[in-house]
Amino acid sequence: MMWHDRQHPDVVFGDLRHEVVTVTDRSHGKQDGTRTLRIEPDVAMDFRALPYKDGTFNLVAFDPPHLLRAGPRSWLAAKYGQLGPDWREDLRRGFAECFRVLAPNGVLVFKWNEAQVKVSEVLALTEIDPLFGHLSGHKSLTHWLVFMKPASRPDSQFGPNGPESR
Ligand SMILES: C[S@@+](CC[C@H](N)C(=O)[O-])C[C@H]1O[C@@H](n2cnc3c(N)ncnc32)[C@H](O)[C@@H]1O
Repeated sequence: MMWHDRQHPDVVFGDLRHEVVTVTDRSHGKQDGTRTLRIEPDVAMDFRALPYKDGTFNLVAFDPPHLLRAGPRSWLAAKYGQLGPDWREDLRRGFAECFRVLAPNGVLVFKWNEAQVKVSEVLALTEIDPLFGHLSGHKSLTHWLVFMKPASRPDSQFGPNGPESR
């Protein structure tokens, strides 16, 4: 959804699921009130254990699910996914993995909608503070936050045994 050019050679889009779903959505959908969503990642991956070596990327965008609660037929949940019961641990590991695969001074862009979980609760799951951010969306609930991986922190601090992942 957020890409300007999904086919850009510098983009690797990862997601846990690969599916095409048709949901009821009368706001933006087709005449028949449905909307087709295509979740077709370049690489199937779990953000809790990224299949890349330390320091691989200069830029990482982390856009995890933000919904804890959703109805069984929610098109928002179909579109954005849903947090699991261990969401704090999942996101903690996700942040640690994003920083691990970033090169020193690499940039992490993080997107979070705080309709259900405050952004402060999520920022508590990583030791690195964002440098700046921006609020968007018609209710101004979507945060775009920008972090830089400190060049002084060894990658081992972000790995499975580092403080970031505990
Ligand atoms: C907000 S959406 C991302 C939308 C995407 N940035 C785009 O522009 O199309 C969140 C996605 O995270 C995926 N997801 C949930 N848990 C995951 C995990 N552990 N690893 C990788 N992806 C996960 C969901 O399947 C969902 O598609």
